[in-house]
Amino acid sequence: AAPTRYEAETSPAVCNGSIDNDHSGYSGSGFCNGDNNTGSYAQFTVNAATAGTTTLAIRHANGTTSGRPAGLIVNGATTQTVPFAATGAWTTWTTTTLTVPLNAGSNTIRLSPTTSNGLPNIDYIDV
Ligand code: GCU
Ligand code: CA
Repeated sequence: AAPTRYEAETSPAVCNGSIDNDHSGYSGSGFCNGDNNTGSYAQFTVNAATAGTTTLAIRHANGTTSGRPAGLIVNGATTQTVPFAATGAWTTWTTTTLTVPLNAGSNTIRLSPTTSNGLPNIDYIDV
């Protein structure tokens, strides 16, 4: 089936930082600019019709020259680290595609930065 888009600025998503719109190219009405520390995560609540692995796409921009790695935490369990590479500019957005295990029904997907630089700017996830 076609993926469902979950915007970072749309409740029940959580952004530990601010919803900004000062860097063009985002989807919806803005993006999550997480505060620059390890505690500032972005979290999405997504629905899955059935249990099993599914494709997750995450769109980010990172206008610095370093990666902004983050743990991908699904329903409380870290599944992998996403590198969130530099994209060259805050207005250059790129999509990372991953495979994640989901439960049937509601699931939480949290991006938890592993360095004090925090997250890149996060636009949305597609599930
Ligand atoms: C700049 C940029 C923000 C970004 C921040 C960061 O302030 O305008 O969008 O989130 O850098 O380094 O995290
Ligand atoms: Ca930030």
